[in-house]
Amino acid sequence: MQLTKKISEVRSLIKQWRKEGLSIGLVPTMGFLHEGHKSLIDRAVKENDRVVVSVFVNPIQFAPNEDFEAYPRDIERDSKLCEDAGAALVFNPEPEEMYGDEFLTSINMTKITEVLCGKTRPTHFGGVCTVVGKLFNIVSPDRAYFGQKDAQQLSVIRRMVKDLNFDIEIIGCPIVREADGLAKSSRNTYLSPEERKAALVLSKSLCEAKKLIESGETNADKIITAAKKLIESEPLAKIDYVSIVSWDSLEKTDTINGAILMAEAVYIGKTRLIDNFITEQI
Ligand code: PAF
Repeated sequence: MQLTKKISEVRSLIKQWRKEGLSIGLVPTMGFLHEGHKSLIDRAVKENDRVVVSVFVNPIQFAPNEDFEAYPRDIERDSKLCEDAGAALVFNPEPEEMYGDEFLTSINMTKITEVLCGKTRPTHFGGVCTVVGKLFNIVSPDRAYFGQKDAQQLSVIRRMVKDLNFDIEIIGCPIVREADGLAKSSRNTYLSPEERKAALVLSKSLCEAKKLIESGETNADKIITAAKKLIESEPLAKIDYVSIVSWDSLEKTDTINGAILMAEAVYIGKTRLIDNFITEQI
């Protein structure tokens, strides 16, 4: 496996692989890889001849008050995980390599970036689209892999690919959870032992909501209220949002009808965690 910080080196390897007629999968990440990322790499390795993993904490998807500086980083550990999983290349650029000293262009999307996480993080998805668009142009993969934990991001990327005619298949992969139900996330490392226990309200409230749906409840408000009640019973938790929307238009829906996304963002202490479920296969 190779590790590079240079766009030019990625490009020359990709050129060589294309000459050999090899297919290419891309797994974009911000590093500090866990089992969730590994599941994306495993799937990409199965479906492509060569897999590129990008490891880049993208400054432009963080607002000034967010955790860009604190975001955990460990490129040695990440490289080892990628190599063991069968990746062919890790691309780990510095911010200057991606944005130079004067970057004037961005990809901005309206509507579906303004709901759910976009309400609290209004500049976030512009930053995500811009970096993912750049990675798509640098790597030009056949397929790119994204986790369902960031369901809104998955929907936004699919929309960007459709709107801007990227010739790339976007593969959504299931959420990977700890044994007790907590969705795997690099941000879980911020939690104290007490907060780690409290964080279970996310998956528990979604389980409760799923049970209601399975028992025939179709009123979205009732399901949201039940989930909120469970979260509010945890003193360390503060709700950002709990929503039910259509998948994958992300439009608000009052009834459970067709594929829906139930998504929530909850602060546990200072750490903002997200989790969700979708009622149909993505
Ligand atoms: O999901 C992430 O880790 C990031 O948002 C992504 C897609 C790598 C873009 O920086």
